[in-house]
Amino acid sequence: MRVLITGAGGMVGRALVAHCQAQGDKVLAHERADLDITNADEVYATLERERPETVINCAAWTDVDGCELNPERALTVNAEAVETLALASRQVGASFVTISTDYVFAGDKAGFYTQRDDPEPQSAYGMSKLQGERRAQVVSARTMIVRTSWVFGPGGKNFLTSALARARRGEQLPAIGDAYGTPTYAPHLAARLRELAALDLPGVYHVAGSGAGTSFAGFARAAVALAGNKEATVAEVSMDSLQRPAPRPRNSRLRCLLSAAIGLAPLPDWQTALREFAETINAER
Ligand SMILES: NC(=O)c1ccc[n+]([C@@H]2O[C@H](COP(=O)([O-])OP(=O)(O)OC[C@H]3O[C@@H](n4cnc5c(N)ncnc54)[C@H](OP(=O)(O)O)[C@@H]3O)[C@@H](O)[C@H]2O)c1
Repeated sequence: MRVLITGAGGMVGRALVAHCQAQGDKVLAHERADLDITNADEVYATLERERPETVINCAAWTDVDGCELNPERALTVNAEAVETLALASRQVGASFVTISTDYVFAGDKAGFYTQRDDPEPQSAYGMSKLQGERRAQVVSARTMIVRTSWVFGPGGKNFLTSALARARRGEQLPAIGDAYGTPTYAPHLAARLRELAALDLPGVYHVAGSGAGTSFAGFARAAVALAGNKEATVAEVSMDSLQRPAPRPRNSRLRCLLSAAIGLAPLPDWQTALREFAETINAER
């Protein structure tokens, strides 16, 4: 497959480039430095030149509190630029896959969020991502939206990598005990993104680690156990006590109604993925 990847320097972007290369794809990988997705001229010129069969957008402004303080910039990167990419993809005959987020949901539901739940973002980040979804779908019928949640993996600055580092140093880890999600391993997400791109079946997909999900504190406790340092402990805090600029969903566990229907296997659960991640890190140390 001839696949163009934007945001190739990010956590998911890197995992996707590695996966597509391993599958023997012709990978046209673009980090922000060589393709800024907010530069429409550059986007059109790059796609015209490289003629991909599919475009997978991993670029986004993911600083949730930053977006809250600068919602215009959030819309520029997470919505307008996504529309441009979708339109440019259509013009060169490519399918378009873009990643969205559990933050499009309000977070007040008790169970899992599926495609039957109406999005109701509470933050500027969530609103900008939802706008990106909708604008892409309007301009290209070959759009696949992939909502994911709590992504962790190699190289990223995410909750898990900092928790593991602190656990190894024997420190106490403050972790939110009253917010729940479905952690998703970046290499597993990457494999599913490529699978969906190859299927070319437009729609909204929820791609997250299977199983019941967990709280940040549950996630941190599992990380502490893996780090094997008995000095490290988890101190549960409430989400409200952090007083961050942007509200976050209290429950944003995702489940997909479509994946099984089209024969896609569920992603491994987060505990299995966490062990895989820890083995990768240990092998690199
Ligand atoms: N991480 C999660 O827990 C999570 C959860 C749900 C959904 N998602 C979604 O998953 C996708 C990938 O996120 P990630 O975790 O890989 O985030 P990430 O590590 O922050 O990667 C995003 C990448 O996009 C790049 N970027 C930002 N603005 C750009 C622009 N104007 N043009 C080109 N590239 C630009 C960033 O470059 P710079 O670093 O140079 O800014 C970064 O390399 C995003 O759509 C995100 O919304 C993530």
